[in-house]
Amino acid sequence: MSSFSDLIPVVNKLQDIVTNTQLLDLDLPILSVIGSQSCGKSSVLENIVGRDFLPRGTGIVTRRPLVLQLINISPEQPDYQKFLDRQLQEVQNGAPGELTLEDHLRNSSPSLEGHSVPPSDEGELLEWGEFLHLPNKRFYNFDDIRREIENETARIAGKNKGISRLPINLKIFSTKVLNLTLVDLPGLTKIPIGDQPTDIERQTRNLILEYIAKPNCVILAVSPANVDLVNSESLKLARQVDPQGKRTVGLLTKLDLMDQGTNAVDILNGRVYPLKLGFVGIVNRSQQDISANKPLGDSLLAEEQFFSNHPAYSKIALKCGTKNLSKKLNNILMNHIRERLPDIKAKLNTLMGQTEQELRSYGEDNLLDADIATKGSLILQLMTKFANNFINSIDGNNYQS
Ligand code: GDP
Ligand code: NA
Ligand code: MG
Repeated sequence: MSSFSDLIPVVNKLQDIVTNTQLLDLDLPILSVIGSQSCGKSSVLENIVGRDFLPRGTGIVTRRPLVLQLINISPEQPDYQKFLDRQLQEVQNGAPGELTLEDHLRNSSPSLEGHSVPPSDEGELLEWGEFLHLPNKRFYNFDDIRREIENETARIAGKNKGISRLPINLKIFSTKVLNLTLVDLPGLTKIPIGDQPTDIERQTRNLILEYIAKPNCVILAVSPANVDLVNSESLKLARQVDPQGKRTVGLLTKLDLMDQGTNAVDILNGRVYPLKLGFVGIVNRSQQDISANKPLGDSLLAEEQFFSNHPAYSKIALKCGTKNLSKKLNNILMNHIRERLPDIKAKLNTLMGQTEQELRSYGEDNLLDADIATKGSLILQLMTKFANNFINSIDGNNYQS
């Protein structure tokens, strides 16, 4: 088990049950990326998502919080409730091909192998973005998503350097993502420029604190490796809300830009600054790479090579880089879900008990009512199958890196 994608089918199916039965929200952690201006926050976020879609560049680019909700869609069952209704309809109508209830249950029992993606009729890409401020508009082109973020930033925060605390909400629907919320925040800044008010530093700080104060927030505290760690604004801020360093991951970017003959091995090995979740070294695309439209895949490969060929980092290469960051975030998420499992199990049991009782309350006569009986037992059986499969698969998996 090595990346976000391994976890996707399991968590999303669990999410399917809990959402469709309206049991509870899985309450997954929110990942917030913080750091000083141009330290590489947006770049890291794009690496995690695996897509190019954020405005990036020198100077202050991120000027409104971007709340990015990744939503997994499975083409086989885009909406489980609709799927269930369709199944019921087919059972009631005896169509198609006179399948028995057993057949339906067998056919509808999803495997844990993950979703296969049938080509859609319209040949559409099964990956798109939707903004809260533009309902019902789907963005299939990720360059258009970037332009819309830029326009929407300018609309509220002005065309110059101003910032606004009003978030932009973007949902990305994809078969390849894990249901998760990520937040890109404006960079910490000291000296007002352009339109910025004199108290810009305090404003940005308060805005970031609003997001990272939540206990459910995993703080990705970015520090550029070419600046002394004692001056890291992100770590100072993270410490205010997470003094014991329990939910902060240290990200050291720009390792490729450090002075010749220096390295960050001590920091990455946890000998300089204590964080329970540790530090990950990162090499993002340079401005030159971005200007040359270097594909994300190429830069991830170059990053791996940087670490494995570097005299100081080759020994710890397996703990470095974006891939390892994903693994780490995967583990954090897994542990979080594991902690919540007893609660999820208890609520599932209650719901199953309730459904059973409800069925019995109809009495024998009414059980002849095909609608009630079929619906009730179908839901019950599906739920039992789903719950057991999914909970066992989470319990039984070893997601340690
Ligand atoms: P943000 O302001 O913190 O969101 O930073 P961005 O992700 O927009 O990056 C700011 C600039 O720094 C861009 O020109 C990036 O190409 C560059 N950059 C970010 N990370 C790295 C890195 O690890 N190495 C190099 N060489 N450049 C980087
Ligand atoms: Na920045
Ligand atoms: Mg940014």
